[in-house]
Amino acid sequence: MPNRPAIVFPTILVGADVQGKPNYCTVGACGVVNLEPMLYISLKDTHYTTSGVKENGFFSVNLPSSDLVQKVDFCGVVSGKETDKSRLYTPFYDETGRAPMIRNVRSIFFVG
Ligand SMILES: Cc1cc2nc3c(=O)[nH]c(=O)nc-3n(C[C@H](O)[C@H](O)[C@H](O)COP(=O)(O)O)c2cc1C
Repeated sequence: MPNRPAIVFPTILVGADVQGKPNYCTVGACGVVNLEPMLYISLKDTHYTTSGVKENGFFSVNLPSSDLVQKVDFCGVVSGKETDKSRLYTPFYDETGRAPMIRNVRSIFFVG
């Protein structure tokens, strides 16, 4: 049965370090859980990004603007298992250094 979303999905980039290198994956299944600073993402367990979230326990949520549409599409159809996506964006980290956020993109940092 085709996936027909009932509402508009945001399009975000989830970032995680995998074996010491940043990786990014496009995600539509993301939303607010409650009034706490808490949100959910739904990540397929076979994604390369998911292995990084499991490895480090952290991930970033990045809200790309429309000028990044081609790169965001790329991150949604190509896996870090086959292609190195680490150089697509300029990463930065908070003091824990556990998940790559994307410079010049609105980024949030979460415990997985
Ligand atoms: C618009 C769009 C939305 C997507 N949303 C999700 C999603 O919500 N959850 C998910 O697990 N994969 C989603 N994907 C698929 C992953 O982004 C895709 O399989 C990606 O290549 C995984 O990369 P990785 O293996 O490097 O982590 C989406 C792809 C696109 C193009």
